[in-house]
Amino acid sequence: MLKSCGRRLVLSLVGALLACLLVLMADQQKLQQLQAPPAPSPEAAGGEGGRRALRSLASAGEGPARRPQDQSGPPPARQVRSFSDYFSKLSRVRRDVGPPAGVARPGESAPRPQLEEIFPRDVFIAVKTTKKFHRSRLELLLDTWISRNKDVTFIFTDGEDEELKKHTGNVINTNCSAAHSRQALSCKMAVEYDKFIESGRKWFCHVDDDNYVNVRMLVKLLSSYPHTQDIYIGKPSLDRPIQATERISENKMQPVHFWFATGGAGFCISRGLALKMSPWASGGHFMSTAEKIRLPDDCTIGYIIESVLGVKLIRSNLFHSHLENLQQVPKSELHKQVTLSYGMFENKRNSIHMKGAFSVEADPSRFRSIHCLLYPDTPWCPANVVY
Ligand SMILES: *[C@@H]1O[C@H](CO)[C@@H](O)[C@H](O)[C@H]1NC(C)=O
Repeated sequence: MLKSCGRRLVLSLVGALLACLLVLMADQQKLQQLQAPPAPSPEAAGGEGGRRALRSLASAGEGPARRPQDQSGPPPARQVRSFSDYFSKLSRVRRDVGPPAGVARPGESAPRPQLEEIFPRDVFIAVKTTKKFHRSRLELLLDTWISRNKDVTFIFTDGEDEELKKHTGNVINTNCSAAHSRQALSCKMAVEYDKFIESGRKWFCHVDDDNYVNVRMLVKLLSSYPHTQDIYIGKPSLDRPIQATERISENKMQPVHFWFATGGAGFCISRGLALKMSPWASGGHFMSTAEKIRLPDDCTIGYIIESVLGVKLIRSNLFHSHLENLQQVPKSELHKQVTLSYGMFENKRNSIHMKGAFSVEADPSRFRSIHCLLYPDTPWCPANVVY
């Protein structure tokens, strides 16, 4: 009698304890979900960028949607759990498809954490020009961004010019033809590559003589990637991979397709990757590789990197060529861009839109105005300009 009573008591006590524990555990879980830390860790930042990128990818079909300038604050706790989900989805999407060129890709513009401290001197910027443009194009660059970055910048041209050498010691006469032919352009790229390897620097960047380079932003961008790894970064001008045929023997061709960064917007290659490119790019090899696919210099770079070495182009919206509508670069973001350009597009003047220190007549490329915005202490910049 006493024994069974005791057993019942123990049983009911254990039951109550279990129920209590269950309620407590459920509460604890709820509490944890509510209090998930809105930590601004690199991972969370990446997730936030990823979420925005996904949203814009989803709306990409509806037209060239601009980036919403929103949600920079911490994400609500409820969403934190799915960050890794978004992140893995995003990297898959990124690999599989690219959005049409010109469509904003917010994820790419979001600041990445610094991985490696680098300095301007670690970068080798090759500016490709031709003797015909020494006065009309190069002078503008020498007056503006090159003046602040002389030991970073190397000018690759095709004719002697004593006047030009007075401005900077880094002028390289490639002895290539001055024609705008495929061969002449590849000839210059080949010399750029060889000089970069010789320089021992960490990053190779190529730009054209109609590009403005914001070296501070360039260094900031590159410092978020390791220079010893395979990094190829720039902006494609086509909305799909280029199709080409590769000559594999005297009378055997084979179709290939790959992405490439347009040379007119500028692109960069890490030293690690550049060294791997050597069998196809060094010495006379670049010219023969270009001949093999019969495409221009920037396509040949993409071919070697994507098609031969299997390394994917990293797209960045911070590079700009005259092949895109430059008016669309938001005024509030101008100072964050890595490269800018100017030129004619569909018979209209194409340049960035900014008020700036000079009129459009006095400064049609807007490079002097952007330079005064970035370096207001430049002697020829007017003081007290309201932007
Ligand atoms: C171009 O030719 C000049 C004169 O022959 C030579 O000194 C120079 O090294 C050549 N440049 C290149 C890049 O080979």
